[in-house]
Amino acid sequence: MTQPLREKLAADAHRPQYHFLPPANWMNDPNGLIQWQDHYHLFYQHNPNNPSWGPMHWGHAVSQDLVHWTDLPNALAPTPGTADEDGCWSGYAVNHQGTPTLLYTGLRGQIQLPCLATSRDNLLTWQKYAGNPVIASPPPELDVVGFRDHTLWPENGAWYQLIGSGIRDVGGTALLYQSSDLKRWQYLHPITIGDKNETGEMWECPDFFPLGDKHVLIVSPIPLRRALYFVGIYADHHFTPDVHGTVDAGGHFYAPLTMQDENGRRLMWGWLWEGRSEQAQQKAGWAGVMSLPRILSLPPGGSLSQFPVPELAALRNHHFHLANIDLTPGMAPVLADVSGDTLEILAEFEPLDGGVFDAGQTFGLKVRCSPDGAEQTLIVYDGQEVAVDRQRASLDVETHRDRYSGPLQLASGKTLTLHVFLDRSVIELFANYRTCLASRIYPSRPDSLGLDLFVRSGRVRLKSLDVWSMASIWA
Ligand code: FRU
Repeated sequence: MTQPLREKLAADAHRPQYHFLPPANWMNDPNGLIQWQDHYHLFYQHNPNNPSWGPMHWGHAVSQDLVHWTDLPNALAPTPGTADEDGCWSGYAVNHQGTPTLLYTGLRGQIQLPCLATSRDNLLTWQKYAGNPVIASPPPELDVVGFRDHTLWPENGAWYQLIGSGIRDVGGTALLYQSSDLKRWQYLHPITIGDKNETGEMWECPDFFPLGDKHVLIVSPIPLRRALYFVGIYADHHFTPDVHGTVDAGGHFYAPLTMQDENGRRLMWGWLWEGRSEQAQQKAGWAGVMSLPRILSLPPGGSLSQFPVPELAALRNHHFHLANIDLTPGMAPVLADVSGDTLEILAEFEPLDGGVFDAGQTFGLKVRCSPDGAEQTLIVYDGQEVAVDRQRASLDVETHRDRYSGPLQLASGKTLTLHVFLDRSVIELFANYRTCLASRIYPSRPDSLGLDLFVRSGRVRLKSLDVWSMASIWA
């Protein structure tokens, strides 16, 4: 049923080929990620009737390999006269004594409250709990700004959940609750409270999980428009963060959610929003893309590492390889034979004298270049920061063309790895798997398919470069 919708949009030159997105219309946050009987289930905030945010449903897709997805019917839709009559907002999925169970935020008017739904047919259809909402109001003793989005975990025979919130004029927070049956909840306390000026006033979409010997809290703070992570110690039901950072510095990655799969991997997806006008989104008939699934880890030092799942290698087609060439300013194009808009690019650079990259030494990759260079997007490293520079990404002045960057300092002798997934309007960059930038670009010219390396100042050695064209997951 969804296939004709997908086919209708397939010719759109900006529509990603190997990133998940709904058959048509609007998507935002990933929801309720869960592995069930060898299948990964991906739910998502979905307006199935328009490519703009609206009455929220839970869209649903399933995959066996994390790469190819099959659409399933919407899992949740607003029910008139109930706690979710105006929307089924973000939430989480768990296995509760063998029953797949969703905890989500029901919207009624302005009121947002936690609701439950369960499935008896392997996650295909969902029945809402007659006692919804399962919590009647935010804790009366707190002056909260917002009360929505959920994460759940079992601990010592009980269920614990966090609800995203904020304390007026103080800062974002996540409120901790406890339950034995997911239906009756006891409020405990804020698990931690942020500083409004630094980490936002309201934390959307909290997620909380052990990683290595620490715990990680991920939130999407209003008004920052980017997700943050905190790494720290969880003890006595309080979380004390000692490190925090930006999950993805590309300016387009929000509301991430994670799950642990049966291999013990902590997988994360995030919503990649559009970088073009609402009018352009209406015209396109779709808006919103899911990031690739990323594996999280915590190397010594405490900042989060992110790796694309290795399963993506199944999409690699034609391969191009190059190694050991010195790059200098003004050099002739080295990649004249390689081009495309759906590519995986893995490049490793080293400082020429084997030391460190100098500050001010600027080099990187160019993608989606038109033959005359009028359109091109730069992925730039300057010894301090890695950036996606979209100033010339498109001749269409209605598209977002600002530059985003994230810090990346490399110790002496360390090489720079730029691992890039280019998928039409999506760029996902993993720089040394430490600094990630997801971006959106909308080149206007059909011949903006070129790829090259560049050096603006200094000399640098390309240790190796691999480029693969990538297959569509919808073939
Ligand atoms: C984050 C968010 C959530 C909410 C959902 C509604 O993008 O605003 O806080 O549950 O989207 O679609």
